[in-house]
Amino acid sequence: MGLLHFWACAGFLILVLEVIFNLGGAWGADLADLVTNLPGQPPVNFKQYAGYVTVNESHGRALFYWFVEADQKDPALLPLVFWFTGGPGCSSIGGGFLQEIGPFFTNANGTGLIRNKHTWNKYANIVFVDSPSGTGYSYSNTTSDYSVFTDQSTAEDNLAFTLGWFAKFPEYKKNKFYLTGESFAGHYLPELAEQIVLYNEKPGLDYKINFKGFAVGNALTDGYSDNLGTIKFYYYHSLISDQTYTTLIENCNFSVDGPTVESVPNATCDNAVDYVYGVELAEINPYNIYGLNCNPPATTNRPAFIKRVNMIRFAGVNPCPPDTVTPYLNLPAVKAALHARQDIEWIFCSNIVYDNYSAPDFTRSILPFYRFLLTKDLRIWVYSGDVDGVVPTTGTRIWLAKLNLPIETPWYPWNHSSQVGGWSQVYTNLTFTTVRDSGHQVPLYQPGRALQLFKYFLKGQSLPGFDYKN
Ligand SMILES: *[C@@H]1O[C@H](CO)[C@@H](O)[C@H](O)[C@H]1NC(C)=O
Ligand SMILES: *[C@@H]1O[C@H](CO)[C@@H](O)[C@H](O)[C@H]1NC(C)=O
Ligand SMILES: *[C@@H]1O[C@H](CO)[C@@H](O)[C@H](O)[C@H]1NC(C)=O
Ligand SMILES: *[C@@H]1O[C@H](CO)[C@@H](O)[C@H](O)[C@H]1NC(C)=O
Ligand SMILES: *[C@@H]1O[C@H](CO)[C@@H](O)[C@H](O)[C@H]1NC(C)=O
Ligand SMILES: *[C@@H]1O[C@H](CO)[C@@H](O)[C@H](O)[C@H]1NC(C)=O
Ligand SMILES: *[C@@H]1O[C@H](CO)[C@@H](O)[C@H](O)[C@H]1NC(C)=O
Ligand SMILES: *[C@@H]1O[C@H](CO)[C@@H](O)[C@H](O)[C@H]1NC(C)=O
Repeated sequence: MGLLHFWACAGFLILVLEVIFNLGGAWGADLADLVTNLPGQPPVNFKQYAGYVTVNESHGRALFYWFVEADQKDPALLPLVFWFTGGPGCSSIGGGFLQEIGPFFTNANGTGLIRNKHTWNKYANIVFVDSPSGTGYSYSNTTSDYSVFTDQSTAEDNLAFTLGWFAKFPEYKKNKFYLTGESFAGHYLPELAEQIVLYNEKPGLDYKINFKGFAVGNALTDGYSDNLGTIKFYYYHSLISDQTYTTLIENCNFSVDGPTVESVPNATCDNAVDYVYGVELAEINPYNIYGLNCNPPATTNRPAFIKRVNMIRFAGVNPCPPDTVTPYLNLPAVKAALHARQDIEWIFCSNIVYDNYSAPDFTRSILPFYRFLLTKDLRIWVYSGDVDGVVPTTGTRIWLAKLNLPIETPWYPWNHSSQVGGWSQVYTNLTFTTVRDSGHQVPLYQPGRALQLFKYFLKGQSLPGFDYKN
């Protein structure tokens, strides 16, 4: 009897035991979600699960997840990590899993998978969550849910997801638990973190969520800082003129309007922003200003432009590969293997979610969440690809300064394979680190540097510097 056959029998035996002894809903649920026949998948030694967690019974709202156990002998000993892609409305399984940190990428023709040698499941068990409903394979059976999305409703659904996920996988309740994500997840992560901390403070709980912290990349955080930082980034990278810079500085109220986010339009500001994207940056990929431009010709309509860059935000690196993720995730056999609904067309980023997401929430400041979380004994890492022009490092540094945290280890270059991987500054209760020569999606543009960063984040150690002593 071959090894493969043996494992097949073992799986069958567990199934039989499950049926005979009715080992409880939890185990049954994760067995039902076990992924066994993913088309074109290379053989692996770790288990995968995928499916839905209901987050709101009465509305029939469910979030989709894809969970990969750690690719190590004993995954139970390693941390549990959730990943959220931003948008809002962009899918974590498309961007996060299949192009950045998952164990597989799609192959050249979108019919199968290849291994990602920089996969983050080398160090942790990772759950990719499509949130809010309407994103990726996630859905609501109540159409009116698609007319209003807010930070608050997203955070509540994400907490319901977290609790529902632990109900399916109770064996993971004891693991150290972290959140990760990027871009608009700069809202999702601190807001879910707050929900979890408040949940854990409730009396009479069966268990507390073993929440330890979060790491967030190129994180939209504070409308004022992110808008102002974007203007400075463009100006000091010599992408816009003195005149444009001055016009923007003098006419935009960055708290509510600017190149990155807008909730209250101002015609003078908007015309200048249109000139930036329609003329000065028209042939630049704002997600990676020194990368190849894979975008279709720019439009002078700014809201359309911002939407467009969100929709093509996974256009990828050199040399502008075609999208093979969308065809793969729409294969009926792939949907069946992942236990996704066949009637849902998978798209990278949902217009419905983006267009119906509360405008004031785009520009709101997430700093009050940081101020709350910074005293809750959590590990908080903020990282930033330093050639991203959409949520650039300059903006992040403006809001970090507003937090006014004591500096424990001042700004230093960190060592990745004997080259500068970026710079890091350790504050009390928060570590900030840049990733050199990385665009918006750090693991996409700098996979090796991103993996090292993740490893040190999980270890709770500062990134290594260079030894200048000799
Ligand atoms: C379900 O969602 C609706 C609207 O999104 C909300 O009003 C309701 O309170 C939710 N139900 C529960 C039990 O959370
Ligand atoms: C949504 O509706 C479908 C079709 O009726 C049903 O199968 C599914 O269970 C519902 N989802 C939820 C979360 O209630
Ligand atoms: C897709 O590419 C794989 C190799 O990556 C190849 O084996 C397969 O035949 C191709 N399929 C089609 C339909 O072109
Ligand atoms: C949501 O946004 C879309 C545009 O993408 C719009 O057509 C629709 O009316 C909005 N509301 C709902 C409920 O879909
Ligand atoms: C835009 O804002 C600037 C600065 O607040 C203000 O001076 C100007 O009148 C505004 N323009 C419009 C068209 O609202
Ligand atoms: C900028 O917008 C905020 C929020 O709407 C408002 O409180 C503030 O007064 C505005 N500042 C200026 C200079 O118009
Ligand atoms: C750091 O966290 C500790 C609790 O873990 C808290 O007592 C302290 O006030 C925090 N310091 C800052 C500057 O936030
Ligand atoms: C930088 O890191 C490499 C390992 O990636 C190590 O071999 C080297 O000694 C380090 N260099 C310094 C100067 O610390």
